[in-house]
Amino acid sequence: MIIKSVDGKEIPVEMYKSRMVQKMNLIPASERLKAIREAGFNSFLLKTKDVFLDMLTDSGVNAMSDHQYAALMDADDAYAGSQTFYDFAAAVKDVMGYNHVMNVHQGRAAEHLLSKVFGKPGGVVITNYHFTTTKAHIELTGQSACLELYADEALKTKSTHPFKGNMDLQKVQAAIKKHGKEKVGYIRMEATTNLLGGQPFSMENLKAVRKICDQNGILLVIDGSLMAENAYLITQREKGYEKKTVAEIVKEMCSLADLFYMSGRKNTCVRGGFIATNHKNLFEQLEPWLPVYEGFFTYGGMSLREIGAMAVGLREMVDPSVAGASVEQIKYFVEKLESLGIPCVTPPGGLACHIDAKKFLPHVPKEGYIAGAMVAALHIASGVRGMERGTISMDRDAKGHDVYADLELARIAVPRRVYSISHIEYIISRLQWLHKNRELVGGLKFVSEPPVLRFFLGKLTDLNGWGQKLADAFRKDFGDKW
Ligand code: F0G
Repeated sequence: MIIKSVDGKEIPVEMYKSRMVQKMNLIPASERLKAIREAGFNSFLLKTKDVFLDMLTDSGVNAMSDHQYAALMDADDAYAGSQTFYDFAAAVKDVMGYNHVMNVHQGRAAEHLLSKVFGKPGGVVITNYHFTTTKAHIELTGQSACLELYADEALKTKSTHPFKGNMDLQKVQAAIKKHGKEKVGYIRMEATTNLLGGQPFSMENLKAVRKICDQNGILLVIDGSLMAENAYLITQREKGYEKKTVAEIVKEMCSLADLFYMSGRKNTCVRGGFIATNHKNLFEQLEPWLPVYEGFFTYGGMSLREIGAMAVGLREMVDPSVAGASVEQIKYFVEKLESLGIPCVTPPGGLACHIDAKKFLPHVPKEGYIAGAMVAALHIASGVRGMERGTISMDRDAKGHDVYADLELARIAVPRRVYSISHIEYIISRLQWLHKNRELVGGLKFVSEPPVLRFFLGKLTDLNGWGQKLADAFRKDFGDKW
C-alpha cells in the first residue's frame, strides 16, 4: 500500500507481518570474492550460506500466507481423485474462468507440452518476447522458430512507455503473411515480459492480438507467470481500467486466450504450474501426454500439498496488496536509483529492478559479458545475489558464435512479501558505491560451458583479476567487516 508522507513522498508500506523468519548471514567482501570465484562468477552456482539478500529470482522463493500453510496440512494426498485437485480446479474456474485445467511440475513443463502438441515443425511461434525456457522448448520440442515481434520501444531501457511488453501488430500481420497462417503454431503473449525487464502489455494490445488470431484461425496462448503484476500495472496505467479491480482484469485477460499457462512458482507463491483452457478439444489433445511426462491428471507431477497452497495463492494473488507487493517495492527501488544517476530499466515493471549494465559499465566490451560482470561485482560489493540477463543467457548459434543479447541486464529480483524497504535501501547504498568504483570492474570469459541454457551451469573467470581489485577497494572504504 502506498502512504503519502507530509513532504509528498510515497512510502510503500508492507501489508503483511512476519510470523516466521529465517536468519540471514552477511560475510565480508574478501569471502564474497572467494565465493563468487568458486562459483565461476556465476551467481546460480553460489551457495546460500555465502549470500546475504537472495535476489536471484522471484521464483519459488516468495513468502506464503498463513492460509497457504494451513492448506499444506489440509491437503488430500491421494494418488488419484484427490479432493485437493478439485478444489484447485474450482479456484481456477473462479479466478480465471477456465473449465479445464491440468497441473504440471513447473512452467517449463507446460511449455514442453504446448510446444510438443501445438508447435509446427518447420513453422514459427510468434511472441512479444521470449523467455529462456520458452525459446528452448519452442525450438527443441516444437522444432519451430521463435519470432519476437515487440515494438521498437521495448529495447529502450530508458523510457516512459507504459506498456513495453506490447506486441507490434503490424509486424505480426507481416509475419503471418510471410510465413503463412498454417505455419504459425500459436501466438504467445507473456505477462509481464520477463527478459524485457518485467514490462507489461495493455489490454488494448491483447484484444488486438486476439482479433488477429480470430481473423487467421491462430491459437492465442498467454504465459501468465506474472499475470497479477501485469493486471496491477494495467489498473495504474491503462485508460478505462483505473476503476477495475485486479480480479476483473485477470478474468478479462484470461477470457481472451485459447490456452493459458503459468509457472506456479511466482504469483501463487509455491511450486509447479498449470495449463488451463475453455476449449475441450485443445485440452483433449494435451491430456494423453500428461501422464507420460508429468503425472496422473489429479496431480500432474506436483505435490498435492502444494496444489492446495496454490489454490489459496490463486485466490490471494488478485488482492491488490498481494498483486502490488513487489511492484511497489520495485518502483521505490528503481526511482531512487534513477535519482542517483544509476541506470535502470524504466518505467519500473514487475519481477525485479533491472540495472542497465551496458550503461553502468560502458567500458566493458560486449565480449566480456557485461551483465554477468555486473552481477558478480554486485555480489562482491554487497553479498546480494542477482541474475545475469544478457548474452550469457543466450546460447551460441550453430557455428559456435556468441549471440549478443538485445539487452544486458543485471536483474535484482524482488520476491513477493519477503524483503523490506531497509533491505532495498542497503542494496541502493552498495550500488552507489559500486557505481563510483565501476572503473575497477572488467569483463569475464568462459572456462567451461554447457551447450544448452549455459547460464545455469557455465563457469567463467574475471579478466585480469579485477575481482581482487574491487574487493580491495571495498575493504579500504568499509574495513574488513561488511
Ligand atoms: N515463463 C516465464 C515468463 C517465466 O518467468 C518463467 C520462469 C517460466 C515461464 C518458466 O517457469 O521456472 O516454473 O519452469 N522464470 C524464472 C525466473 C525461472 O527466474 O525468472 P518455471
